[in-house]
Amino acid sequence: MEQKDKKILCVGLVCLDIISVVDKYPEEDTDSRCVSQRWQRGGNASNSCTVLSLLGSPCAFMGSLCAGPVASFIVGDFSQHGIDISAVTWQVKGQTPSACCVVCPSSGSRTVVLFDTNVPDVTAEDFSKVDLRHFKWIHWEGRNADEQLKMIERVARYNATLLPQQRITVSVEIEKPREPLYELFAYGDVVFVSKDVARHFGFQTPSSALEGLRCRVKAGAVLICAWAEKGADALAPDGSLVHSDAFPPEHLVDTLGAGDTFNAAVIHKLSNGARLQDALTFGCAVAGSKCGFHGYDGIADMAASQYWKHDGSAGDI
Ligand code: ADP
Ligand code: FRU
Repeated sequence: MEQKDKKILCVGLVCLDIISVVDKYPEEDTDSRCVSQRWQRGGNASNSCTVLSLLGSPCAFMGSLCAGPVASFIVGDFSQHGIDISAVTWQVKGQTPSACCVVCPSSGSRTVVLFDTNVPDVTAEDFSKVDLRHFKWIHWEGRNADEQLKMIERVARYNATLLPQQRITVSVEIEKPREPLYELFAYGDVVFVSKDVARHFGFQTPSSALEGLRCRVKAGAVLICAWAEKGADALAPDGSLVHSDAFPPEHLVDTLGAGDTFNAAVIHKLSNGARLQDALTFGCAVAGSKCGFHGYDGIADMAASQYWKHDGSAGDI
């Protein structure tokens, strides 16, 4: 199989998001009406698959599901978006994760309460069944880092048997300030670190976070830090820093999954051979426009209308 025909695999969480859109964030212990409510497939890796697929990158999801009505909704939505779920592990015990999300357009906030501790994450043993020949890029949302490191080591062994241009690129996302996840820094060709984690380390800007955290990534890796309305910065393999401003939408509507959208748009570009600066700018453009509508499907319209081509700065997709 040629490299260009291979898929991108995202490993991590899928959950049900029950989203209430409110005009004002509710007071605790009150009973109020929301403006609208919907079910949406969520989870970082799952959302990134949605965006990859809408941008035209063939992709697959790997994570845990438990058979039942919630999983049926999720499977239907994966299928509608053309996302391959043959690597999903069907757990026999537990409950498909779900989250209550409150999206508040007037402030731009998104508040999430997630329950995902009643089902095991996929393991290195589950991952050993994945046929690596189908993939050009594998992205891990940092979760059960000990198992994820073993999965990445399997990819490294596989890559060692291949010519450089045939190898699988490994990316990791370190989003939550949890000590065990920090081991992942050293394992990604591309590492996404969140502003939450950066702040936890005491950094107040994306560029200072990159300077402070560069010692944790391997030589030649790309380290990327997105920072909401400040856009995003990245450390290039040669050690130089690149930056993109944010692309604020006309009206802020829904910031849920902005980070997952950014990661997917950057991966989409880099996996098609774009320069880091172009990938970063594109990531901010797609994530910024996503904040201007509910959910993700509007990305398809924007891709079809070639909005980013006309925008000039974000370039061709
Ligand atoms: P998360 O969803 O993980 O909190 P961030 O807040 O870091 O993600 O945002 C990721 C990217 O989404 C940013 O780099 C930026 O390009 C875009 N973005 C997020 N919030 C806004 C905003 N209010 N205005 C414009 N762009 C935004
Ligand atoms: C957005 C998201 C939601 C999910 C939550 C889990 O980034 O993936 O879809 O409910 O985060 O932390």
